[in-house]
Amino acid sequence: MEKLVSSWCSNIKALPESYIFPPETRPGNLNVPTCNSIPVIDLSKAESQNRTEIVEQILKASEEFGFFQVVNHGIPESLMNQAMDVFKEFFEILPAEEKAMLYSEDPKKGCRLLTSTPNYNWEKNHLWRDNLRHPCHPLEECIKDWPEKPIKYREVMAIFSVEAKKLGSRILEFMAEGLGLECGYFRGKLSEELSVGVNHYPPCPDPSLALGLTKHCDANLITILHQGDIYGLQVFKDGEWIGVEPLHNAIVVNLGNQLQIISNNKLKSAEHRVVTNSKVSRTTAAFFISPSDDTIIEPAKPLIDACNSPLYRPFQYKEFLQSFYTNNGNNDLALEPFKLQA
Ligand code: OGA
Ligand code: NI
Repeated sequence: MEKLVSSWCSNIKALPESYIFPPETRPGNLNVPTCNSIPVIDLSKAESQNRTEIVEQILKASEEFGFFQVVNHGIPESLMNQAMDVFKEFFEILPAEEKAMLYSEDPKKGCRLLTSTPNYNWEKNHLWRDNLRHPCHPLEECIKDWPEKPIKYREVMAIFSVEAKKLGSRILEFMAEGLGLECGYFRGKLSEELSVGVNHYPPCPDPSLALGLTKHCDANLITILHQGDIYGLQVFKDGEWIGVEPLHNAIVVNLGNQLQIISNNKLKSAEHRVVTNSKVSRTTAAFFISPSDDTIIEPAKPLIDACNSPLYRPFQYKEFLQSFYTNNGNNDLALEPFKLQA
């Protein structure tokens, strides 16, 4: 509990040594371009005759970036604001005793508060973030383990997580259509699980040396991110970092490793990281839509033909997770055991 960055960071002036990343991985120059590079897609157009246009935009963004933002996505503005307020309140206003009850280093605990990564006690460098994580589905089963305070947490998280899952499912339908897969391809076991990570990145004494999250791909199928209004997320594209500009009320969508594999590398799961800033804290909520553990993952059969051989062997999702954690989220190493010779 005393390890939480938010518990001690206001009492220090300099960045503690264990938070200083080596020169190769530290952000160094924080002024990366954020100019309109990540596509912004207006989903309100999807219900009219422009559906095909939206499908094309989503597919293009997924091929080129593995990242995009959606606006007019159907999650009400008031809910977006309420959710952000509750998440901020959890980290910034809740008394230490309340947070202490949730802090745990036991990976078997479904709902827990931690700092940096689950590897805190073994890792070389710590991340400048605290993290609350728990499953969100099935709701009736997991809600009883969620934080009881702030008083609105359960109510707001319940509504928001349902909305996030709905939005994710809708986007997956567009993707199935764009890939030429049957409608509902991603429904069922491939997208059965939903969990959330609420991240809190307090102001950092030296953002050029620290990281909120190191370069990683999400291991799951697709991630729905409420990043709020504060900048910090960067995507690695063509050997360069580009910033994901915070757009008020937009939702950030990124593809996880499983979408890359199922699409046989047609779509891309992009590497990303989080940088910090010295002025204000940043709070985000990432909703991870994932296959259930025993789901067989493989390149979708309709995408395989004489010219397109499968690039990955079939495997159980839990095998991938094992590889992902063993390799500390390193994308190339995590994918390696599942690759077939092209
Ligand atoms: C994540 C993630 C981005 C952010 O939780 O996997 O990439 O901006 N979060 O917090
Ligand atoms: Ni991520």
